[in-house]
Amino acid sequence: MKSNIILIGFMGCGKSSVARALAKKLERICLDTDALIEQSQNRKIKKIFSAQGEAAFRKMEKELLKRLKASVQNAVIATGGGFGVQKGLKKLGLVVYLKMEFDEILSRLSGDKKQLKSRPLLKDLNAAKALFNARAGLYEKRANLIIEVKNKSVKEIAKEIRSKI
Ligand code: S3P
Repeated sequence: MKSNIILIGFMGCGKSSVARALAKKLERICLDTDALIEQSQNRKIKKIFSAQGEAAFRKMEKELLKRLKASVQNAVIATGGGFGVQKGLKKLGLVVYLKMEFDEILSRLSGDKKQLKSRPLLKDLNAAKALFNARAGLYEKRANLIIEVKNKSVKEIAKEIRSKI
């Protein structure tokens, strides 16, 4: 087993919840790239996008990947939706793609206004759908393991990952 486990996938597919459940099961530390960026910038993601722009945020993600590679082992790492398309992720650990269709993601998120509001890239749903289409193949390429998450609970997904790593 590679030392870190990295969960990737589109916004709203459950990476953070699954990472917490999996880390608990495996008795490992749980990290979240969005939270790490927010802490280091002392700003919410939404504010980083509005004040500094998306390109600045992507640069932060790139730098964070470098830092994690240099300093983190044995962690379960939840990532932001764009973090998981970066090259070189497999050098950080075992990459697990939580795969879910766009319509499913939308129906999950649409009941939760807070979830939609905190994500600048979900403001325009047509653009979000195009982003999903552009990224879907890349997530597959970056992954060591693909887990279909439709109709599965967080607990079931964590259990499935555990049985397959
Ligand atoms: C983004 C996903 C978000 C967050 C930022 C950009 C993306 O994370 O990093 O809003 O580019 O897909 P979640 O996937 O946790 O929503």
